[in-house]
Amino acid sequence: MKTSKLNADPNPNSRRLFVAGNWKMHHNAAETKAVLDELRTQVDEIQHLDLAVCVPYTSLAAAVAVLDGTRIAVGAQNVHWMVSGAFTGEVSTDMLKELGVRYVILGHSERRELFGETDMHINLRLHAALNAGLLPIVCVGETAKQRDTKLTRAVVSSQIGGCLAGLDAEQIERVTLAYEPVWAIGTGVTPSPEDAQGVHADIRQQLHRLFGDVAERVRIQYGGSVNSKTVAAMLEQRDIDGALVGNASLKVPTFRELLDKISP
Ligand code: PGA
Repeated sequence: MKTSKLNADPNPNSRRLFVAGNWKMHHNAAETKAVLDELRTQVDEIQHLDLAVCVPYTSLAAAVAVLDGTRIAVGAQNVHWMVSGAFTGEVSTDMLKELGVRYVILGHSERRELFGETDMHINLRLHAALNAGLLPIVCVGETAKQRDTKLTRAVVSSQIGGCLAGLDAEQIERVTLAYEPVWAIGTGVTPSPEDAQGVHADIRQQLHRLFGDVAERVRIQYGGSVNSKTVAAMLEQRDIDGALVGNASLKVPTFRELLDKISP
């Protein structure tokens, strides 16, 4: 398996700020190589952040090759819970690990809304990822309708409870959570930093109830229209420990501009 400087980090979840790009279904392998070849030369001085890019399956090998020995880790965008078998279209934890993949996004709202994934599926994927030694990024967040009917807290709390069922304190420390209001994804509209902080604080309280003091060491990213204009105020909030970034992570200039706005 490939190693990177980040892979050697003995305590990846110490609540160091963590910014991950979610490329969704963008950039084929050749484009991935070109973008990351440029990005890798630009992040050496950004020592105060953990960094990852979560790329399409077909770009994983290219990403790992280009980023080997750099501070940027590679993530996938989903993983199945079975080791192997008749599961057309799915990919296992072993397959990701073989490539040198470190992170995996689970439960993104696009998976929930467009592909029918439920908290139960996400919980199965989460256990499999943790058992395999991958570092999961578990997404939660309410829709616009749920926000408008004041259901944000209930929805997020129920997603957290369902997704994290059966985990222990040692395991939760290896999980990053991402609060992504569905209405903020790809829209240019975001909650106020104070409103986002309120949800993050609720999530952390719930983690305290479920797992005890380890809750203080679990990273909770904010995601949804994070860019160079929105990132600083969000990450200044007490319980916001990084960002999951879609659009603004696709091109080096916009990603770099965003990273530059995050003060140590
Ligand atoms: P966005 O996407 O930054 O383009 O809003 C975030 C995400 O979906 O993770």
